[in-house]
Amino acid sequence: MHTFVLFGASGDLAKEKLYPALFDLFRASEIFRVVGFARTPLTTQDFQKLVADSLRRRRKKPTTTELKKFLAHFSYVSGTYDTEGIAALRSALKIDRPIAFPLSYYLAIPVEYPLIRSIILGLSANQLIVGQSAIGIEKPFGFDGQSATQLNRLLAKYFTEDQIYRIDHYLAKGMVQDLFALRFANPIFEPIWNNRYIEKISIDICEEDSIRNRGQYYERAGAIRDILQNHALQLLAFTTMATPRDLNAASIHREKIKILRRLRLFGDNGLENISIRQYHGYQNEKFVAPDSIVETAASLRLEIDTPQWRGVPITIATGKKIAKRTTDILIHFKKKQLYLWDKTECDLQENLFYINIQPENDIRLRLNSEFNFKDLCALPVDLRFGFLDNQYLFMDPYENALRDFFHRNQSIFLNATEIALSWKLIDHILALIAPRRQLLLETY
Ligand code: BG6
Repeated sequence: MHTFVLFGASGDLAKEKLYPALFDLFRASEIFRVVGFARTPLTTQDFQKLVADSLRRRRKKPTTTELKKFLAHFSYVSGTYDTEGIAALRSALKIDRPIAFPLSYYLAIPVEYPLIRSIILGLSANQLIVGQSAIGIEKPFGFDGQSATQLNRLLAKYFTEDQIYRIDHYLAKGMVQDLFALRFANPIFEPIWNNRYIEKISIDICEEDSIRNRGQYYERAGAIRDILQNHALQLLAFTTMATPRDLNAASIHREKIKILRRLRLFGDNGLENISIRQYHGYQNEKFVAPDSIVETAASLRLEIDTPQWRGVPITIATGKKIAKRTTDILIHFKKKQLYLWDKTECDLQENLFYINIQPENDIRLRLNSEFNFKDLCALPVDLRFGFLDNQYLFMDPYENALRDFFHRNQSIFLNATEIALSWKLIDHILALIAPRRQLLLETY
C-alpha cells in the first residue's frame, strides 16, 4: 500500500494542514497508510488521538465510522532524526525486500540543512531510498541562493529530480490552477498577452494577520523572503509564461524558467523599484528585536527582459497587517486611441482583467459597453464570474498538493532551477537594500 511517512508528525503544519487534507483524500477514496515519525514520544493511540483532534475544527466533521476507518491507517514511530532513529522507522515499516510499494516522505519540519541532511543520510543508510520513493519538502527552500543550492545538491545526491517535490502551496490553490486554464484554454487571450496590449500588471498578496507567534522565523525571513521570493514570483511566472508545449510538468517548468531567467528590476534600475515597510508594533512582537529593521511589507517593480514583455512594469507586493486579506492579479490593458471616439468628449477607460485568487475567488473583465447614440460615451461595465457564488468547490491547497505528490505529478511543484533563479533575483535585491535598510524602511 502507498506509504506516507511524515517527519514532524506532531508539529503545527501536520495538525493544521496535512491531516485535514489527508482526510479529504481518504474521503475521495485515495488509499494510503500514514506512518508518523517525530521526536516526541507518543504511542500510536496518542498519535491517532492527535490526528482526530486536528479534524475537529473542520466544518464537515467526520462521522464516527469514517474516523475509525481513517485512523486505522495511522501508526507512529518516535525516534531521533538520524540513522539510528530511522532504523526504528524501517522496522516499523515491515519492509520485505525489495520494496514493492510507493514510499512518500514528507518533511513537515523546520527546513534546516543539518536536520534535513541527517534525515536523508538516515534514509539512505537504511536503504529506504528506492525507485518508488519520493520526497516532499516545505518552504522556505533555503535562506538565500547559496543555502538553496546546498540543499538542492544534497537532495540531488540521493534522489533524482523526478523524486523531489518542492512545495509552494500557492500553486496548489484552486484559483491559480484555474488561471492556467483561463490563459491557455481560451485562444482569445494569447494574441493580447504582451507589451503591445498590456500596460502593467500588479500582483498583491495582502494579509490581515500579524506575524503571530512566528517572530523567530520572521526575524530571519522578512516579507521579501517569506512571500515575494516564492509565492509572488510563482504567480508572476504563471501569469506571464508562454504556452507550454504540452501539459506535462517538464514543459510547464521550462516555460516558467524562461520567465524567471529574464526577470529583473524595472528598467534594470535599482532602489526606486523597491519599497519596504514595517507595521507599528512589530518590534513588540514575541521573539522580535526591539530595534528590528525587518520588513513586514514590501513591493518590487519588475520587468521581464524579453521582446514580449519588455517595458511592462510588473509589481509584486505583500504585507502583514494590511486592512484586508486578499490575493489578486490585476492586468491593466493599454488605453488605445480609438478613432471612433476621438471627436467625442468621452474619455474611454482602459480595459482591466482582474483575478482574485482569494478570498472572493472571482474573475472580472472591465469592458466599455454602456452606450447610446445620443450621449456617445461608452461607459465601463464589469463582467464577473464568482466561482464560489456558483457552488464551485475548491479543494484545499494541501489536498491538491498531497494528491499530486501521491500520483507523482510535478506540475504544481518547483524544480531546482526555478528555486535557484528566484533566489538569484532576490539575493540581488536584498543586497541592494542591505546598506540602506534603516533609511528605506517606512512604518505603517
Ligand atoms: C506562508 C507564509 O508561506 O504563506 C505565511 O510563510 C503566510 O507568512 C502564508 O501567512 C499565507 O498563505 P495563505 O494560503 O494563507 O494565503
